[in-house]
Amino acid sequence: MYIPPAYKRLKRAPQVMLPKDIGIVIAYTGLNKQSKCFDAGTGSGWLAVSLARVAKEVTSYEIRDEFMKLAQKNARNEGLKNLRIMKGDPIKRIVGKDFDLVTLDMPDSDKAVPNAYKALKNGGYIFGYLPHIEQMKKFIRALGKQRFGEINAYELIARDMITRKEGTRPSTKGVWHTAYLVFARKPEVQ
Ligand SMILES: C[S@@+](CC[C@H](N)C(=O)[O-])C[C@H]1O[C@@H](n2cnc3c(N)ncnc32)[C@H](O)[C@@H]1O
Repeated sequence: MYIPPAYKRLKRAPQVMLPKDIGIVIAYTGLNKQSKCFDAGTGSGWLAVSLARVAKEVTSYEIRDEFMKLAQKNARNEGLKNLRIMKGDPIKRIVGKDFDLVTLDMPDSDKAVPNAYKALKNGGYIFGYLPHIEQMKKFIRALGKQRFGEINAYELIARDMITRKEGTRPSTKGVWHTAYLVFARKPEVQ
């Protein structure tokens, strides 16, 4: 799959979230220059950097030192002063509240749902990026227990098209599954 320069220049270590999936997070949640976001795990920071390019401020937590440092370097190289990348585990604690958006891309995202609920403002969105169906089911169950509403799950397939003199058709190569995308909203009124 084509990776545009805005991403290609970012260093990468663990599996990153791809632009095809990042785009819907920004559009679906109405992210804008007033938005305050919380993100975990940072990984290489591809999602965190993308959120910070649009939002007012982004706080991102990563448990591994080497990934935290790599993502901090990506944020510095992009000149993003509104992105703070820190060592931390959202399952144990989320510092800060009144977030408009919490994004979770880590193995036990379902366990961070109770803290995410507390950290979100009313009407805020939670987003989970979950490679396996089993993780998606656990995440959706955790959202239901926490009184999140507007729960919707998706998988986005981007098909590369090839154009040659013999004809134009979808490519037989390319990235198919990346992860399931789950969105939910904290009710406007408690
Ligand atoms: C798939 S990567 C995230 C990729 C990132 N969204 C991006 O676009 O570059 C998952 C990251 O979560 C981190 N992680 C795993 N468990 C965590 C936890 N409990 N708290 C914080 N980070 C965690 C891992 O070290 C890893 O870097």
